[in-house]
Amino acid sequence: MAPPAHAPNAPFPAKRKGSMEKSDRIITIDGPAGSGKSTLARNLAQALGWSCLDTGALYRAVALVADERGLTPSQASEAGALAASLDIRLYVDGSETLVVVGDRDVTGLIRSPGISSLSSRFSAIPEVRGALLGLQRSLGQKGHLVAEGRDMGTVVFPLAGLKFFLTASPETRAGRRQLQLAREGVFVDPLDILSDIEARDYADSNRETARLEPAEGAFHIDSTDMSLFQVETIMIGEAKRVFGP
Ligand code: DC
Repeated sequence: MAPPAHAPNAPFPAKRKGSMEKSDRIITIDGPAGSGKSTLARNLAQALGWSCLDTGALYRAVALVADERGLTPSQASEAGALAASLDIRLYVDGSETLVVVGDRDVTGLIRSPGISSLSSRFSAIPEVRGALLGLQRSLGQKGHLVAEGRDMGTVVFPLAGLKFFLTASPETRAGRRQLQLAREGVFVDPLDILSDIEARDYADSNRETARLEPAEGAFHIDSTDMSLFQVETIMIGEAKRVFGP
């Protein structure tokens, strides 16, 4: 197993604000649920020899623990305090990101449809987003990172050297999600996946804070009629063009 892609939950160092250059070796991938971000981020990172960061896993971990502790998304300050207190670690293991909270492996639990929907609701809370911002930025401090989520290029790493915005039709994304879940042994009605994806698209794109939208200058890819391999090839080519071979 690779070493933890984790650093202490430290605030973003002030000096870095001024010193961060547009050429920073960070690649951001933003896009809606099921657009292929996680797989592409992992494959791109592997091709470049960089680390990758699945920020959706952080929001999912917060939603899981909040739910277990009886919190609802209307309890903003309690949810923010909980997010700030959690020790969340991500370990990239082959094609999977293992998610550990404290000493508990929650990898399987956070991918359930219930937690998908709850994570969208908890992630709309500004206090939760603020609590996870320092952690995400500390993981990008050394550069050589492919970070994926909803606000990577707009909020978390605005000076990243290369930004992607991935989309695909909701039907295509639902089909991919169904396959991914089936591979993990979770069988869900495709129509339920589609309605979950549409509900999350709406919620993630219309919230007040860090809504899902393309970062300025982002390279847009609509993968509806493309294989993930084709998308990956374009992304690797673009990364080599920007950062060198
Ligand atoms: O990428 P994902 O489906 O695992 O993300 C789960 C939820 O977390 C998603 O509905 C929106 C939220 N999220 C977010 O708001 N910001 C991020 N950077 C990543 C995920």
